Amino acid sequence: MARMQNGTVISNGNGAPYVSVVAGGAGFLGSHLCEALIASGHQVICVDSFVSSSRRNIRSLESSPDFRLFEADVCEPLGLRGRVDRVYNLACAASPPRYQADPIHTMTTSVVGSLNLLRLAEARGARYLQASTSEVYGDPEQHPQSESYSGHVNCTGPRACYDEGKRAAEALCFDFLRLGRVDVRVARIFNTYGPRMQPDDGRIVSNFIVQALSGKPMTIYGTGEQTRSFCYVSDLVRGLMALMEARLPHEGPVNLGNPDEHRVLEFARIVADLVGARNAVRHEALPTDDPRRRCPDISLARELLGWEPTVSLRDGLRETIEWFRSTEVASHPHDPAPEQRMAATAGK
Ligand SMILES: NC(=O)c1ccc[n+]([C@@H]2O[C@H](COP(=O)([O-])OP(=O)(O)OC[C@H]3O[C@@H](n4cnc5c(N)ncnc54)[C@H](O)[C@@H]3O)[C@@H](O)[C@H]2O)c1
Repeated sequence: MARMQNGTVISNGNGAPYVSVVAGGAGFLGSHLCEALIASGHQVICVDSFVSSSRRNIRSLESSPDFRLFEADVCEPLGLRGRVDRVYNLACAASPPRYQADPIHTMTTSVVGSLNLLRLAEARGARYLQASTSEVYGDPEQHPQSESYSGHVNCTGPRACYDEGKRAAEALCFDFLRLGRVDVRVARIFNTYGPRMQPDDGRIVSNFIVQALSGKPMTIYGTGEQTRSFCYVSDLVRGLMALMEARLPHEGPVNLGNPDEHRVLEFARIVADLVGARNAVRHEALPTDDPRRRCPDISLARELLGWEPTVSLRDGLRETIEWFRSTEVASHPHDPAPEQRMAATAGK
């Protein structure tokens, strides 16, 4: 088995490079993961339907001989042929306006899509990683949130298609694991940001940056006293790969996120400061089921993977702002559509 200097496994027992399927590989996180896997010697098959992403995200990858795009909806049986060693399942719209646009498809993606990908992993003897979310904790009563906390989720609200879909996907994963059918890993991802976030998808980081760059008031939902913690994308991707490759004594989900917690109002000031803007803030009503506090306990990731974030909030934001500046966003001022304002949330 070949390993990179950093310990990442890059080939199977026969010396051939690992073949990794990345479902949702054209998305924000998925495209960075595809890049990092190729950089560490994997061959990547990106499975995506582009329901919540743009092909622009993978443009630089498409010329790589180690990258293949398989355009498909994971809700349908996947006719993928050939060897597969790793399956990363990141397929699912992740921002509230996107996942609420077709809530039934969102739930189906998490449940039927995950089932299809688990079956693919089982058929090929591949290891499987599920991208779960801090949203499985709902509006938490425990702080910070550790993996043993079973959550406080509303199963009938407008976020349920995502939160409950992800909870069902976790249940499926651990059943496959308990039955000895697939070696499964579940990452509970907390708010992650970086280049390639979509400017109009209603997440807090992209909203604030785009508003700051275009001189618009920054939208704060509620008082802005609610807290969030933000993980830079390179840290998160490193965590996903470490979790996939770890020899785990532990059967259960692992939180991945940055425990550096900020009040939303304070976060808006940091963004405005880095952009060099003097934007006013505009307060709007809190969306339904918006969590008041969100901060991961990452003790388990530290212990099992030796992983923790290394990119500071200011450094990560500088990179992200630079990327937004270099795209056309700054010249096309953004104002979320009314339906997006309702759905967009400080929760992401
Ligand atoms: N970014 C975050 O802060 C965050 C936080 C928690 C969890 N996550 C999870 O990480 C994963 C990736 O999130 P992201 O931020 O990159 O979102 P994204 O919307 O940018 O990426 C999701 C990708 O999945 C694809 N997809 C969605 N449904 C599909 C389907 N049925 N068939 C095929 N492709 C499909 C989309 O086209 C997109 O390319 C998601 O599963 C999300 O739940 C992300």
